[in-house]
Amino acid sequence: MTKVKTFKNYINGKWKTSSGRETFDNVNPADTRQVVGRFQKSTRKDLNEAVAAADGALPAWRKTPAPQRGEILFRVAELLVKQKESLARNMTLEMGKIIKETRGDVQEAIDMAYYTAGEGRRMLGETVPSELKNKFSMSVRMPVGVVAAITPWNFPIAIPSWKLVPALVCGNTVVIKPASDTPLSVFSFVKLCEEAGLPPGVLNMVTGSGEDIGTPLIDHPDVDLVSFTGSTDTGSIVASHCAKQMKRYSLEMGGKNAIVVMDDADLNLALEGVLWGAFGTTGQRCTACSRVIVHKKVLKKFTTMLLERTRALRVGDGLNEKNEMGPLVNESQRQKVLNYCKIGVEEGGKLLTGGSYLSEKKYKNGFFFEPTLFADVSSKMRVAQEEIFGPVLSIISCSNLDHAVQIVNDSKFGLSSAIYTQDINRAFRAMESLDTGITYINSSTIGAEIQLPFGGTKGTGNGHREAGTAALEIFTEWKAVYVDYSGTLQKAQIEN
Ligand code: UN1
Repeated sequence: MTKVKTFKNYINGKWKTSSGRETFDNVNPADTRQVVGRFQKSTRKDLNEAVAAADGALPAWRKTPAPQRGEILFRVAELLVKQKESLARNMTLEMGKIIKETRGDVQEAIDMAYYTAGEGRRMLGETVPSELKNKFSMSVRMPVGVVAAITPWNFPIAIPSWKLVPALVCGNTVVIKPASDTPLSVFSFVKLCEEAGLPPGVLNMVTGSGEDIGTPLIDHPDVDLVSFTGSTDTGSIVASHCAKQMKRYSLEMGGKNAIVVMDDADLNLALEGVLWGAFGTTGQRCTACSRVIVHKKVLKKFTTMLLERTRALRVGDGLNEKNEMGPLVNESQRQKVLNYCKIGVEEGGKLLTGGSYLSEKKYKNGFFFEPTLFADVSSKMRVAQEEIFGPVLSIISCSNLDHAVQIVNDSKFGLSSAIYTQDINRAFRAMESLDTGITYINSSTIGAEIQLPFGGTKGTGNGHREAGTAALEIFTEWKAVYVDYSGTLQKAQIEN
């Protein structure tokens, strides 16, 4: 047996053992006999230290010129490029998704760091004319303060990068609490930020459970902004805690994303998009396609095509380049997915394939689940309404575009949607009426690029968007500045 490595917290520029001296194990979901690493089970004391470090580093960091902050982040991008392959391999080990996708996850952080580093030389505000003579008016962006970043396990480096990079370039300091299923990726990311020259205290990391340190972090009076990605249930708890202290918060939560396949669609293209959207990342994306809404004229044909390819998907260890789908991240996710499959059958959905754990010997030490397809699903069924976060796809029939739009919008979520059609008029009508933050035409529901806003309507979020220039709205406060150089008291609204 090789010795299991223990990883420490990062507080005020130092790698530290938790004051409680306890650790937890991070296991490989494809083979749970393998412990990927041992991480600090942090205490409130550790957490308070991390927040104090972030608070202490804030005055100097916010005064550091933004272009200099950007240059450090540019170096982060360069280091990510160098370490891409090892970061991807470690990510597959701790999270399970296939290596092609973990490379993509790291690439998303690279894109984010290069793009956002340049923000250090932009961070645009406005200059507008004043209504009075000899008066200048402009708006500038100010950092919010200490940011708490609470990140999920499904995009172990990409999503932390969406939060850390813009927060830092804007002059905030950060405490990050990574998901307990994927702390190694965040550890590596933080280490790389240290290597890039981020000053002590500007970025701090504490590992541990939501209960032990997540909630106290949100509630900490010196935390000014909470940036959270995760389930809608937890997100609403975050919101209620923050509201009590009038804290800023941004939430990125669930989805029940749909692809519409019209009767004029290129069915082969649609098939690839649906498979990628539904079974990529083992269905564990906020943007995963869990409903495919198929025009009744092509329903039979498309269902047959989908079934054949779903059955043929190669499931296994994500480090094997040949595999197309890895395991689920942990046992509780697997039970949740199994339970939804039972619910689907009870509700009258027709289980075409899948629905249970993979039972062959080669799967026995991992959290593998069969790619699952339900037909005859109606929009009100729970499998069509609730986020499953697993490889389960429901086929719903529609009779025309309006009907399809109605089904897509019949959801409490509003993250991503897609339509396959060759008809430009239908495409634009869909774009206008699908109530989601992201819409794809002739492409899957997944694969958002970092230069555009990411997030959703309704229960998916609280109105914020991550990535692109939209992220600046989360991580800065506006200040309006008026400079009166008339040497007299000029009265706005009075002297016009
Ligand atoms: C998520 O599903 O939580 O658009 C993030 C995508 C990826 C990001 C997904 N670029 O699918």
